[in-house]
Amino acid sequence: MNISKRDFLRMSAAGLAYMPNALSAQTDLLSVTARVADVQLLPDDYGKTQIWGFDGIAPGPEIRVTQGARVKRRIINDLPDPTSTHWHGIRIENAMDGVAGLTQDPVRPGQSFDYDFVAPDAGTYWYHAHNRSFEQVARGLQGALIVEEPEPIDVDREEVLILDDWRIDPETAQIADTFGAMHDLSHAGRIGNYITTNGTYNLARKVKRHERLRLRLINASNARIFQLGLDGLEGWVVAMDGMPLATPRPVEGPFLLSSAQRVDLIVDVTAEMGSAGHLVQLGGDETFSQVAFEVTSDGARAPRGTPRPLPPNAHAMPDLANARDITLLMEGGAMGGMRGAMMGGRMSSMRDMMQAGNFWAFNGAVGGMDGPPLAELSLGETVRLKITNDTSFPHAMHLHGMHFYEIERDGSLGAFRDTTLLDRGEVRAIAFVADNPGKWLLHCHMLSHAASGMMAWVKVA
Ligand code: C2O
Ligand code: CU
Repeated sequence: MNISKRDFLRMSAAGLAYMPNALSAQTDLLSVTARVADVQLLPDDYGKTQIWGFDGIAPGPEIRVTQGARVKRRIINDLPDPTSTHWHGIRIENAMDGVAGLTQDPVRPGQSFDYDFVAPDAGTYWYHAHNRSFEQVARGLQGALIVEEPEPIDVDREEVLILDDWRIDPETAQIADTFGAMHDLSHAGRIGNYITTNGTYNLARKVKRHERLRLRLINASNARIFQLGLDGLEGWVVAMDGMPLATPRPVEGPFLLSSAQRVDLIVDVTAEMGSAGHLVQLGGDETFSQVAFEVTSDGARAPRGTPRPLPPNAHAMPDLANARDITLLMEGGAMGGMRGAMMGGRMSSMRDMMQAGNFWAFNGAVGGMDGPPLAELSLGETVRLKITNDTSFPHAMHLHGMHFYEIERDGSLGAFRDTTLLDRGEVRAIAFVADNPGKWLLHCHMLSHAASGMMAWVKVA
């Protein structure tokens, strides 16, 4: 094995954090270039669309490692604007979190940044731009980050499915460059008019009848809440936001997947030979095929019944009896009735806020990265954060650096995830152990909302 002097210095500087993974220290530093490219995003009879993509494609190249391994990527910025790259859902070292303005400086055009971190938990994650994300993610800067379990899972194969929507001007076939549109900022966010899976509108896969697949679904859209279902497939939810469920849960009806959320399904193909199973998308009164699974041959096996749970990722359990209570009141937006909020240290009217492109407030103040943290936490303490969505829109709240439990109405711990969807008017408490030191963002993953006030951060000392 060959360790360059520079790598060696990095390793010894990082010290303990990398010790358990001495083996994976041999991972090469690979380069990925964020750049402008013309791709055939729309159906063939349309022209090409100019996107911003990692290596010029959207989704970007899949990054896949085994649990506990290191991810080392030099992200080269060949874009016209500064950028940074965030590794969504990874319990990462703070300096590698990729938040321009909080954990690193934006990477200027022509410059690069070396990301180097351990992926401690198996699961389905993703990476995306985190500078002007409401524009850069909409232009295509996102991709899958898959962390495999050390032992193979009992499925015949897997498919990573990145769901996205794009706002396209059909006349020109170009991405509508209305990123800061007031209506999107103040309403449901930038919803696209062209829906894709893995960058194509008609994704189809050939499968065998009775084949067992693992589907890793990632919602990389700016703001769309996908309502999904299965047809000709019998399925179970086995993980959410990367984290395994203790007991796989059968998919019995439609389910929601908000921006940034992921779900891992294990599905058995039950559709007949010559027909197709579908991941369906329910939009209003219509149902669309999001992905078709065409049954072209007969599998040997009969259906296998409920799958075994995925092996759990090790995590500290919250100590609710001794939790620190924090509240977060979300206000603002259209039809929200908010009159004003603190902005830049002074009370401002909604009108002044709007003029500055802000529409939302957290605890009475327009949020961002510049102000003080929402909370300063001590390492290892349990936090119970009660979030009240006092707005007329749903929001997908994401915490960086640590997963949290959704607390059920009866006070018990529910799903363990990194992005929680709150419907309009909904109140939900989440709990987490603040076991990762650093500055961590807490924001709405409807990216136009994050850009117009729905952003806070916590500090873990
Ligand atoms: Cu997926 Cu702040 O990010
Ligand atoms: Cu929101």
